[in-house]
Amino acid sequence: MVKSSKTAKLLLDGKEYDLPIMSPTAGPEVLDIRKLYGEAGVFTYDPGFTSTASCDSTITFIDGGKGELLHRGYPIDQLAEHSHYLEVCYLLLYGNLPKPAELEDFENRVTNHTMIHEQMGYLFRGFRRDAHPMAIMTGVVGAMSAFYHDSTDINDPWQREVASIRMIAKMPTIAAMAYKYTIGQPFVYPRNDLDYASNFLRMCFAVPAENYEVNPILSRAMDRIFTLHADHEQNASTSTVRLASSSGANPFACIAAGIACLWGPAHGGANQACLEMLREIGTADRIPEFIKRAKDKDDPFRLMGFGHRVYKNTDPRAKVLKRSADEVLDFLGVNNNPLLQVAKQLEEVALNDEYFADKKLFPNVDFYSGIILEAMGFPNSMFTPIFALSRTVGWISQWKEMIADPQVKIGRPRQLYLGEAPRDYTDIEKR
Ligand code: SDX
Repeated sequence: MVKSSKTAKLLLDGKEYDLPIMSPTAGPEVLDIRKLYGEAGVFTYDPGFTSTASCDSTITFIDGGKGELLHRGYPIDQLAEHSHYLEVCYLLLYGNLPKPAELEDFENRVTNHTMIHEQMGYLFRGFRRDAHPMAIMTGVVGAMSAFYHDSTDINDPWQREVASIRMIAKMPTIAAMAYKYTIGQPFVYPRNDLDYASNFLRMCFAVPAENYEVNPILSRAMDRIFTLHADHEQNASTSTVRLASSSGANPFACIAAGIACLWGPAHGGANQACLEMLREIGTADRIPEFIKRAKDKDDPFRLMGFGHRVYKNTDPRAKVLKRSADEVLDFLGVNNNPLLQVAKQLEEVALNDEYFADKKLFPNVDFYSGIILEAMGFPNSMFTPIFALSRTVGWISQWKEMIADPQVKIGRPRQLYLGEAPRDYTDIEKR
């Protein structure tokens, strides 16, 4: 981050304050207000942080106007086309694309950490079988703090590295176990001869009673979904991980906090909510009814899978996923899938509707991911766990970046207090 010679001037009660301006590699300039309260005795006010940079970072850049998403400078559509998830993990974690030997070493380290402590299997049995897999993942990932004590000291760079590899390696195993538990099937152990996406598909869909061959078209689509969800700047769950980590909490507890935040339907839970909405719409002739509801200020209904806090033009991930949806459903022979038909017509109607155009609402990453995942055989309840699995590398990369910063301090926002002025306690007899 480069301090520019420019400063902004704030005139307050007749006094002038200089606010240094920081110039980024790309994106908006930033007003440095760190000394504002100390010098001027005022806070800034920005619920939802729509105009606030919470940190500096070198990992991901989003241009919401252009619909651009870069990971360490590489456009997401090029990574989705030419790279694969573990290579993108390496890029996010270490800053550059790996050389062949570096990639082989990284993939071996991840592969050899995919099993979880055998005792953790008993944790699943404490849940009801109808527990949501996200509830199980939040609990089991948090419980990793109780099993992997040799990688919880955040001040030890080696332990931070081990925790990072363990998280990336074990999340597919935990997500698959959560799924198997809820359908009453036995857990399937990871296999070291399979790639990351194939391993996950096999742990989800194999049964001990027969062989399971992973279909390369489906594992490629799965890997692409992982890649498209890997990181996304300072979104709500990533900000949650950063804030939790700023207190010095161990990485497993912080990632569990990120999973909990991602679960919300306004965030990562939107893919499940979007499929449920498409199912509720059912047929194209009911689309106008739902479009009307989405516009009705008195109706809390929103078109799930539409809109984005940052993208105000197009979500580049949705464009890639739309192509993947066509490929996967075509391969599976279900491209006349009624949900996909409704989704495509809903997109068409919404994008040609003045309300949605004015409010810059268009399909986001969650709109098509659910359709692909359902076609691949996943129940709706597994959509967000797959999002969480994919986003773990983003949470971990942002966590490592923050923890390694010697300037890091505990995050502690202030507030605009609108409560009661000081008043004295009155005994109950006098109230
Ligand atoms: C993800 O931050 C990230 O990067 C997230 C994510 C990631 O990779 O981490 O990209 C993943 O979370 C994608 C978003 C998934 N969520 C959904 O699909 C849920 C539906 N979308 C909305 O909830 C909403 O669009 C948000 C939460 C995504 C963004 O909301 P904003 O930017 O805070 O916008 P807003 O709620 O202030 O809405 C602005 C206006 C409002 O109307 P007015 O009050 O101005 O009249 O647009 C309307 C809203 O009513 N609006 C919608 C709408 N989204 C916004 N109206 C109908 N349907 C919608 N989906």
